[in-house]
Amino acid sequence: MENLLNSENKDRLKFLLTYPSFDQNTYDKRIQELLSLDISSVYSSGKVQLHKISILGKGSVGIVTLVRCRNRYFVLKIRRTDANRANMYDEVLYQSLANSIGIGPFLLNFSENFILMEYIKGSNILDWYNSKNSTCEKILKCTCSILQQCFHLDRIKLDHGQLNRLDKHIIISNDGTPTILDFETSSTKRRTGNVTNVSQSFFLNGPIYDRLRDSLDNDNKQVIKIIKDYKKNLSPENFKKILNFLKF
Ligand SMILES: Nc1ncnc2c1ncn2[C@@H]1O[C@H](COP(=O)(O)OP(=O)(O)O)[C@@H](O)[C@H]1O
Ligand SMILES: [Mg+2]
Repeated sequence: MENLLNSENKDRLKFLLTYPSFDQNTYDKRIQELLSLDISSVYSSGKVQLHKISILGKGSVGIVTLVRCRNRYFVLKIRRTDANRANMYDEVLYQSLANSIGIGPFLLNFSENFILMEYIKGSNILDWYNSKNSTCEKILKCTCSILQQCFHLDRIKLDHGQLNRLDKHIIISNDGTPTILDFETSSTKRRTGNVTNVSQSFFLNGPIYDRLRDSLDNDNKQVIKIIKDYKKNLSPENFKKILNFLKF
């Protein structure tokens, strides 16, 4: 894997650290930040292509890339220079809160423009649910784990904010463990809708529902009522009724 910190790759490093618009001051400041995080390599690696650099992912706030720090691989989320926020501190706060109950990639360190976190190796949820190796049992187990993680987030009043788009915010590891990503639009001030949001994709409509529907024990009307009841009262009893849709 190519290390973009090597001097011959300087132009590509400049492009990556200041994406999408280069500015020398921003670049100089970010290089200092990288050093303060003890990052020894920034790799060009991953399925997403950004000009001549391979990365792990790209969103509206961050560019996500593989790095090395203290002899281990991590993920660095780099704030885009056109992001609609001035720093990464809110995301750090909410990701740490999720981490405190064992949810999300483990946060190792951060600075104004970077978040350094655990690298989650795995597949997009849609690819994993549709893969030949994913048996019904594995899919049900994974679905149950996602719902439980969402229930824990609901209980601590942390609303993820984007769990209506599961394909962009959940990675499934090879062993079937799901990890919820990206706490950039999270909040503790809104009404929490984590379980209700993922329940729509699992039990009501969309490509994941299409894959799951034969392993579900429900009809639409009943699902809507039970989700509504849960929305009114986020109790363990109401949550259990949602879990019961899964026909193990
Ligand atoms: N910890 C991680 N491990 C592996 N891949 C990640 C990790 N965090 C993010 N990614 C990848 O990068 C993409 C963009 O990250 P995300 O946090 O959603 O950025 P944004 O806040 O800009 O939307 C994700 O969809 C995912 O594919
Ligand atoms: Mg995102």
